[in-house]
Amino acid sequence: MVTCFHSVFWFWSQGAPLCGHFSMSLGKRWVSITIFILFFVISFVYWIDKSALTGNYIFRTFANTISPKKSSAQVEFPFNCSNLNLTCPTNHPATIEKEESSPVACPAYMRWIHEDLRPWKSAGITRDMVERGRDYATFRLVIVKGKVYVEQIRGTFQTRDIFTIWGILQLLRLYPGKSALTGNYIFRTFANTISPKKSSAQVEFPFNCSNLNLTCPTNHPATIEKEESSPVACPAYMRWIHEDLRPWKSAGITRDMVERGRDYATFRLVIVKGKVYVEQIRGTFQTRDIFTIWGILQLLRLYPGKVPDLELMFVCGDETVIKKRDHQGLKATSVPPVFNYCEDDETLDIVFPDWTFWGWSEVDIKPWGTTLEALKEGNKKIKWKDRKPYAFWKGNPYVSEKRVELMKCNLSNKNDWNVRLYIQDWGKESTNGFKNSKLEDQCTHRYKIYIEGKTWSVSEKYILACNSMTLLLMPQYHDFFTRSLVPMQHYWPIKITNNTCRDLKLAVEWGNYHTDKAQEIGEAGSKFIQENLKMDFVYDYMFHLLSEYSKLLKFEPTIPLGALEVCSETMACREGNKFWRIKNFMVESMVKSPRDTLPCTMPPPL
Ligand SMILES: *[C@@H]1O[C@H](CO)[C@@H](O)[C@H](O)[C@H]1NC(C)=O
Ligand SMILES: *[C@@H]1O[C@H](CO)[C@@H](O)[C@H](O)[C@H]1NC(C)=O
Ligand SMILES: *[C@@H]1O[C@H](CO)[C@@H](O)[C@H](O)[C@H]1NC(C)=O
Ligand SMILES: *[C@@H]1O[C@H](CO)[C@@H](O)[C@H](O)[C@H]1NC(C)=O
Ligand SMILES: *[C@@H]1O[C@H](CO)[C@@H](O)[C@H](O)[C@H]1NC(C)=O
Ligand SMILES: *[C@@H]1O[C@H](CO)[C@@H](O)[C@H](O)[C@H]1NC(C)=O
Repeated sequence: MVTCFHSVFWFWSQGAPLCGHFSMSLGKRWVSITIFILFFVISFVYWIDKSALTGNYIFRTFANTISPKKSSAQVEFPFNCSNLNLTCPTNHPATIEKEESSPVACPAYMRWIHEDLRPWKSAGITRDMVERGRDYATFRLVIVKGKVYVEQIRGTFQTRDIFTIWGILQLLRLYPGKSALTGNYIFRTFANTISPKKSSAQVEFPFNCSNLNLTCPTNHPATIEKEESSPVACPAYMRWIHEDLRPWKSAGITRDMVERGRDYATFRLVIVKGKVYVEQIRGTFQTRDIFTIWGILQLLRLYPGKVPDLELMFVCGDETVIKKRDHQGLKATSVPPVFNYCEDDETLDIVFPDWTFWGWSEVDIKPWGTTLEALKEGNKKIKWKDRKPYAFWKGNPYVSEKRVELMKCNLSNKNDWNVRLYIQDWGKESTNGFKNSKLEDQCTHRYKIYIEGKTWSVSEKYILACNSMTLLLMPQYHDFFTRSLVPMQHYWPIKITNNTCRDLKLAVEWGNYHTDKAQEIGEAGSKFIQENLKMDFVYDYMFHLLSEYSKLLKFEPTIPLGALEVCSETMACREGNKFWRIKNFMVESMVKSPRDTLPCTMPPPL
């Protein structure tokens, strides 16, 4: 059942390019909205009549519009979600013989249809007029020979557009073939809307959701010939890969060690001959594990045939899990290697890029590649010297004591510590369409504060990328890239003490007296992120870490019992995904072609 629901989401999330005749025009937005409503009303009248509002929304309403208007020998539409093709069927009834009895009179409000269309009555509607509606439109809908095409132009609240389109589709089922509307419906599908970046002779991955067997294709490019040009040097933070793997450097990693990571792990991931298998061990928050696995799959698309066989345990929580104090003396020789998003000086977790590099769908933080570009543009909006001369922070303070303490530094009747703090209410943002939580719109102050959450915070890269001088409240935890940030070069360090508010005030005062220097630190922080943390290097970090890890394995990775093979198709075509945004983010962050250059050269150990 769920599948039907998703095939409805499907086209919608992709934004199919099309030509059309029905949209906003000439700024008279209300007029067009009314047209939509009227369109809608026609099908609704029928539904309401059948008391359709009994839950299970789409399916219930569907059931009631399953046939064209009643007649004795009723024709029914085939509707079969197990034909999981995500394409539209072609065998629908084309036209229906109507009872030619005199029809009932419409309710009086339908008279207003004439009024609403009056502006175009004499001269008609040109393509140009329709196109100008684009500035306001959520979507363009086109009906050609009874088939429906949708181009998604921008997002809207919740599922308004989905259900509006659904309503129009039901109208076409209700009156198939009427006024040149025959009864076939096509949604633009996934495969057609991916437009990979063209390059001269680039190999492209086939990606075709209509092979929807939920199995992985076998025809992918296996290896790619690389240009054997001398590769670029990796950013300095990759040196830490050697450090993170040091506990296993001398004796290697046995199967038993990996197995002991199971007590903490969210999933086990196995790569055998370029295929990926996942055993889900326990749940985690939101979609962290999904996007982490997705990221690894994209790495395999980027470097086909190059990522070695391996078996690893991955923890997707906030906490670090492998404590140094539990692995001293004799136990120091059997530390379980566990991948995590962060670690601190007391732990031995192996750090790996967090899920936000492929997107944090629940809060609409887009994949990093997109966000980094948006931040670059966002930075141009307000020049450093024109930004507000205060230190800004916006986030959820209720995840750690430190953050709650920081709130005391906010502007109040008693004090002005040059600090402006705001609470991010994700619940409210979510119902608001995330209009006020865009990261690229938050580069408005000369100074930005970074403070950890429960452990590390994914916000650090977004904050550093703003061209504002980052006031970094000294963190306990680090993720994979933050270890090569240099104080006073990339950020201004602030110790967390009883005097934090005063220290923030002093830092801001310093910056406002030494604007050139403060601006320089701000820009150096952003440059670090723009240059060292572009997705190319994130993938290279993953590549080198996994390669070095794999060299330490003392056993042959095998496909575990109960593990499923995963690939981009099983994830992005999956029917069980709850939110269209997940699919959108996957399409957006998908690696379309293998890279034709070598990975960067790893720096030697310290
Ligand atoms: C739906 O399609 C599948 C596969 O084509 C078929 O086996 C099944 O009987 C169909 N179900 C219905 C209710 O028509
Ligand atoms: C799936 O779609 C293809 C063409 O896109 C068609 O040839 C095939 O018959 C379809 N399969 C099913 C089960 O509908
Ligand atoms: C996707 O697969 C179907 C069925 O295998 C095929 O008919 C179609 O041409 C493919 N589409 C693309 C874009 O490759
Ligand atoms: C779908 O899967 C079945 C076995 O699970 C296989 O026999 C069949 O060939 C597959 N079809 C396609 C189109 O991949
Ligand atoms: C901080 O102060 C500003 C200005 O008074 C206010 O708008 C904001 O809501 C305050 N933030 C918090 C977290 O109380
Ligand atoms: C900070 O304040 C707390 C309570 O006010 C006090 O117990 C603690 O000793 C102070 N710490 C320092 C370093 O001054």
